[in-house]
Amino acid sequence: MSRSGFSSGRGGQPYPPSGGDFTAFPDTFINELVARNDIVDVVSGYVRLGKKSGSNMFGLCPFHSEKTPSFSVSPDKQIYHCFGCGKGGGVISFIMEIENLSFPEAVAFLARRANMPLPEQENDRESKKRARILALNKDAARFYYEQLSSPAGERARDYMARRGISKTTATNFGLGFAPDAWDTLERAMREKGYTDYELFDAGLIKKGRNGGWYDTFRDRLMFPVIDVRGNVIGFSGRILGENGPKYLNSPETSVFNKGSNLFALNLAKKSKSGYILLTEGNIDVVSLHQAGFDSAVASLGTSLTAEQARLISRYSSQVVIAYDNDGAGQKAAQRAIAILEKLDLKVRVLQMSGAKDPDEFIKLKGPEAFARLIEGSENQVEYLLAQIAKKYDLKTDAQKLDYLREAEELLARRPSAAEREIYCRRIAAEVGISPQVLIGEVNARRKRLLRRAEKTEGVRPTASSERAREALRYDDPASAVAEEGVIRLLYLEPELASSPRLPAAEEFSSPELGHIYSVLLSRLREGRSVSADMLGGELEQKELSQLVSILQQPEALASSGRALDDYINRIRDRRRTKEQGLDPMQIYQQRKKELENT
Ligand code: CTP
Ligand code: MN
Repeated sequence: MSRSGFSSGRGGQPYPPSGGDFTAFPDTFINELVARNDIVDVVSGYVRLGKKSGSNMFGLCPFHSEKTPSFSVSPDKQIYHCFGCGKGGGVISFIMEIENLSFPEAVAFLARRANMPLPEQENDRESKKRARILALNKDAARFYYEQLSSPAGERARDYMARRGISKTTATNFGLGFAPDAWDTLERAMREKGYTDYELFDAGLIKKGRNGGWYDTFRDRLMFPVIDVRGNVIGFSGRILGENGPKYLNSPETSVFNKGSNLFALNLAKKSKSGYILLTEGNIDVVSLHQAGFDSAVASLGTSLTAEQARLISRYSSQVVIAYDNDGAGQKAAQRAIAILEKLDLKVRVLQMSGAKDPDEFIKLKGPEAFARLIEGSENQVEYLLAQIAKKYDLKTDAQKLDYLREAEELLARRPSAAEREIYCRRIAAEVGISPQVLIGEVNARRKRLLRRAEKTEGVRPTASSERAREALRYDDPASAVAEEGVIRLLYLEPELASSPRLPAAEEFSSPELGHIYSVLLSRLREGRSVSADMLGGELEQKELSQLVSILQQPEALASSGRALDDYINRIRDRRRTKEQGLDPMQIYQQRKKELENT
């Protein structure tokens, strides 16, 4: 891989930082650091590298015990990869692993080794610009807040009164009002010394067709979105009148990204409740907090993303899903379960009856009733089973059998034997068959499933390799292969980052791959170069290893544009199948049918 063609030396720190203890180093510095610490030299200090095979050198892996060398170092690519344990990365991540250091510590270690001074940090242009946008957002929030008590704010005050939002609650959340006018915010902020350019960068004004500027948020109840460090990073505006979508959120800016933030997490993170209450609407959040449920958050108009789940997992190990009671809400809940489970979060799902959402429920039945709902909420398996049971009339034998078939399929996919047994017993009692029969069928089905996964994906779950076990965890291996392909192509051919057809990270079936992809893509789009070392500061070690192992697969670069198209088509096709109302169960069945026909 070529590491030439570096852009400016913008060492901008991505926002929000994606992992760990983050310090930004300019790209140019990392580039020089890596050039002065050849990976073969550095690794040779720890591993005896034997003779070459192809262009790679091999040795015994320092990260797991082995008798035959499967640890490879590529002098050309300046990366290492162990075919046994799956670890991989560049020279910086090697030092992180072997010396047990953080990214900045490993950088300092290598800088000392190469006799290079460390650069001044944190005072570059990008971070100054970000600080300025944050200051602007704070001033804008204050402006909206003041408008709420101004004469113009009467509309919003009436609305809040109708929705039962108290003044104290409004203050706690910093709620505000964006007047029904075209330039009130713009004028107020210019008076404070901000330029139109800055306002535009913060997503607070837009350019009209006639070339003039106008306020993004008009005639809306304003919810500032505040990150866990207390910065106002953006806004959600709920419509008061009739014109336009119910919610308008800040566009993506250098400090705001919908998919990686949650509304009210700044408050919820302090909760002592032991769980995070996940809802759909900002009003739900506000009214839950007002009723004493101080761990409520909402995703900002996206269905829950892996990034948001990751964020939640930093503050709590348990999530209670309290989505709206309609079909869309229940579908969203099933998707959220899949994402949360991947991070080993304990999931419960709350089922309301007689109200469409938590806000309405609390108004109709009171906080105590809601607390009882939380206590009685089902874990995800119970919830999914109940969703299946709903479809059948369990009084008839034929329908009982259909129910059993679907339930068996669900249970066969649960990795815990204890869990499988408990639910088999419960269902067996429910339909009146012997538990042993059901347990036997579920376990047999599980065996078949594993065997098929092994065959079609070429993955042997018995192999000691960590990576093999991980590969099995892809929800949709067919799509994941294409997703890996997109990542590989982008890495190898950075020009492809400008392709207009590139998918959004949310289109990826694998949240892990989606995250690697979004980090990669946003760097490339900033005109920055990529290498394992550069990405090491933004990806977790596990992700970096995954990336390096993806790079081990061959890729035909001669027709990379076409290959990229093919991968993208595959991802979209798989996704479409899913979105055509097929739930995970049906997709699974369909895939099974496909397998049986081949
Ligand atoms: N939504 C959004 N942006 C937000 C919050 C929600 O686009 N910042 C979208 C969600 O994706 C979902 C819908 O709005 O589709 C949620 O609506 P709802 O739960 O009805 O929102 P509430 O705040 O509860 O509004 P209300 O009760 O007033 O209808
Ligand atoms: Mn609602």
